[in-house]
Amino acid sequence: MDCLTDRRLTGVMSPTQTPERTLVIGGTGTTGRRVAERLAALVAEVRIGSRGGGTRFDWADETTWRPALRGADAAYVTYHPDIGSPAAAGAVGAFARLAVEGGTRRLVLLSGRGSAPAREAERALADSGAEWTVVRSSWFAQNFGEGFLGDAVRSGVLAFPAGAVEEPFISADDIAEIAVAALTGDRHAGQVYDVTGPRLLTFGDAAAEISRAAGIALQYVPISFDEFAAELATSGVPEVAAAETVDVFRTVLDGRNAVLTDDVTRALGRPATDFADYARAAATAGAWQTDGRR
Ligand SMILES: NC(=O)c1ccc[n+]([C@@H]2O[C@H](COP(=O)([O-])OP(=O)(O)OC[C@H]3O[C@@H](n4cnc5c(N)ncnc54)[C@H](OP(=O)(O)O)[C@@H]3O)[C@@H](O)[C@H]2O)c1
Repeated sequence: MDCLTDRRLTGVMSPTQTPERTLVIGGTGTTGRRVAERLAALVAEVRIGSRGGGTRFDWADETTWRPALRGADAAYVTYHPDIGSPAAAGAVGAFARLAVEGGTRRLVLLSGRGSAPAREAERALADSGAEWTVVRSSWFAQNFGEGFLGDAVRSGVLAFPAGAVEEPFISADDIAEIAVAALTGDRHAGQVYDVTGPRLLTFGDAAAEISRAAGIALQYVPISFDEFAAELATSGVPEVAAAETVDVFRTVLDGRNAVLTDDVTRALGRPATDFADYARAAATAGAWQTDGRR
């Protein structure tokens, strides 16, 4: 049996004390920023690890890993460019082993649902001997606002190769809350949280929710993966990165993730944020304003 289909994996280390110094990889990104903000009130030192962050960390340059980890008790791990990319497991495994060797025992990995390479990365994390937690995420609701679909949404036309596939969009705030609970508390060691929002929506449904919340007329236009690849090329995305992105989307946008879980409740003791609530809050914060006020 694939041990990662289980909610608990074997080989978990005994819990440690609450960490004092935490490295947040991708700490200026969608989830990392939220994790770092929450941690700031809870631990003595939060290191923003990224290529341009306060603590230099680059997945493409292993020499940056050890200095970034030095003295840290815990780390939030987001892999770039994508946890579904073929290089993810090798890099996450090597990073996790280095972390454990240097005394950074508690590691929380942001993973993705329905992806074999992501599953391998989870396994590599578990095999490292770390006190680990996996947050295996659905599509972020925030992709439509601050994320990579934001410009399309603001243009009024969301052309995307998702057909009528249903997705349980999850709020990055829920992910961050779980990650912080796992980084600062003992109860989440050895857990895989397969997190979803509370409802399945098509991308057309999501566009309708955003239209309602923001008072705009957003149109969702399903396109083919080849059309999407051509758009990425036109917008200057390098060929290899574009091919990898299209591969990941082709894999996870086939309906395999159209399944709800109660893992947000299991982790936090409260239900997951609904997409309509996300959309209302993002609209109020100006996510889809086009007059420069967002
Ligand atoms: N979006 C989704 O719906 C979704 C769903 C499930 C899983 N995921 C996974 O979530 C992860 C992305 O997390 P996120 O969305 O929170 O972050 P994000 O917003 O995509 O990431 C941006 C952050 O990563 C840093 N970064 C970029 N390249 C880097 C590199 N080579 N080395 C170190 N840091 C780098 C950026 O800072 P600098 O520019 O300063 O380096 C920034 O802090 C990916 O592994 C993705 O597969 C995403």
